[in-house]
Amino acid sequence: MAIYTLKEIESYAHKCRRCPLHKTRTKLVFGAGNPKADILFVGEAPGFYEDKSGQVFVGKSGQLLDKMLASIDLKREDIYIANIIKCRPPDNRSPTEEESTSCIEFLRWQVKIIQPKIIVCLGAVAAKNIISPDFRVSRQRGVWISRGSYSIIASYHPSALLRDESKKTEAWEDLKKIRQKLDE
Ligand code: URA
Repeated sequence: MAIYTLKEIESYAHKCRRCPLHKTRTKLVFGAGNPKADILFVGEAPGFYEDKSGQVFVGKSGQLLDKMLASIDLKREDIYIANIIKCRPPDNRSPTEEESTSCIEFLRWQVKIIQPKIIVCLGAVAAKNIISPDFRVSRQRGVWISRGSYSIIASYHPSALLRDESKKTEAWEDLKKIRQKLDE
């Protein structure tokens, strides 16, 4: 049993002043979905629309993510989704190591409370912070990694697929593996 609830961790996150991003963000984006989900998707950080609304993955990447989920018969209600970083970095710049290190504490709590069987790292920031700092998505995606009770896999971030459609074939291979694992 986890000591805290997601609501409690979210309220701690709202008070967080550990890095400067709280000063420039509009709304904190904690994450959303089914708190009892078997599968957790982890992105990078809120973008423009997420920062305005406080909702996770609602911009163009979010729309593509919904299509990716639908392709393996998943809806937002079936999953939980969160980011490594809860406050938008100005101009969508990549988060610094310090920002990631201080913010990942909230994701650790989310994992502890949700207890997913599967964790999907969307893109390099999630994969480097969750799997290994030298992780290369283009070379190491699509391979299951066991960590304790968690099965972890990395795939392309939807924004990478929007920039380069040729990556969609590999992303589809990864999605099929995720569906298969969920069905095991
Ligand atoms: N990109 C992310 O990584 N997360 C979001 O919530 C939106 C865009």
